[in-house]
Amino acid sequence: MQASAETFQPRVAVVTGAGSGIGAACVQLLAKSGMSCVAVDIADLPHLSAAEGVRVVIGDVGDEATAKSAIAAALVLGDLHAVFNVAGVTGPPGPIESMETSDFDRVFAVNVRGTALMVKHALPVMVDGGTIVNMSSAVGLVGGPAQAVYSASKHAVVGLTKSVALDAAPRGIRVNCLCPGVVDTPMSGLAGASEGLREQWASAHPLGRYAQPEEIAAAALWLASDNACFVTGVAMPVDGGYLAR
Ligand SMILES: NC(=O)c1ccc[n+]([C@@H]2O[C@H](COP(=O)([O-])OP(=O)(O)OC[C@H]3O[C@@H](n4cnc5c(N)ncnc54)[C@H](O)[C@@H]3O)[C@@H](O)[C@H]2O)c1
Repeated sequence: MQASAETFQPRVAVVTGAGSGIGAACVQLLAKSGMSCVAVDIADLPHLSAAEGVRVVIGDVGDEATAKSAIAAALVLGDLHAVFNVAGVTGPPGPIESMETSDFDRVFAVNVRGTALMVKHALPVMVDGGTIVNMSSAVGLVGGPAQAVYSASKHAVVGLTKSVALDAAPRGIRVNCLCPGVVDTPMSGLAGASEGLREQWASAHPLGRYAQPEEIAAAALWLASDNACFVTGVAMPVDGGYLAR
């Protein structure tokens, strides 16, 4: 494997959480770079159903059947080169004392089990030299006030990523995760937030702003590209300097 000047070679990818935010931006960038992709989401994706080179799988990533369907759909398109595990949920913010066990179970079912199931079913069929990019968070590396469960789930994604990277390395398969700061998507709720809150979030990042989903997708595609051919087992912040303080 050699780094190349090209940003991406046309191959086949699976993207979860493809209906919104970072996942949707990944699908767009993959399409621009000529990759075929399977777009997975729990919500319907009518805008993608007719898109060239895209197959849609509707399902909950926490269900094993969704992972099986997604990988089967990818193999119809060709050899599987890349998986982007982007689907995630936050659960209600608040102190641990207010946590409902159902919220805990939901957050872990989507963020951790969903990621693990897709990796479980992708690895055996992935081409040697393939690559997996999981989605952690800046609060997957440090704590987040009023986000104990979400933060714990994203720390779990880091541990899963590093461990699978070790297991998959003999086949040349690279497994990494991204740790974004605040991103302007429906999940962060910035669009409906007050100007004061938006400024507060922006100033939490040394670059003085939060990210756009395309910026996180660009980092994900770089990690998956051959330009990152000696990078595996990393939890890479894409956070405008948030974790550098
Ligand atoms: N937005 C941020 O500030 C931020 C920061 C750090 C990390 N992240 C992580 O990035 C990822 C994407 O977040 P986003 O901001 O684009 O969120 P988003 O809410 O805009 O999009 C998430 C997508 O995942 C889908 N989804 C949710 N549960 C699912 C399930 N069980 N099965 C299949 N699909 C499901 C949703 O329908 C949605 O389309 C998440 O893992 C999130 O934790 C987001």
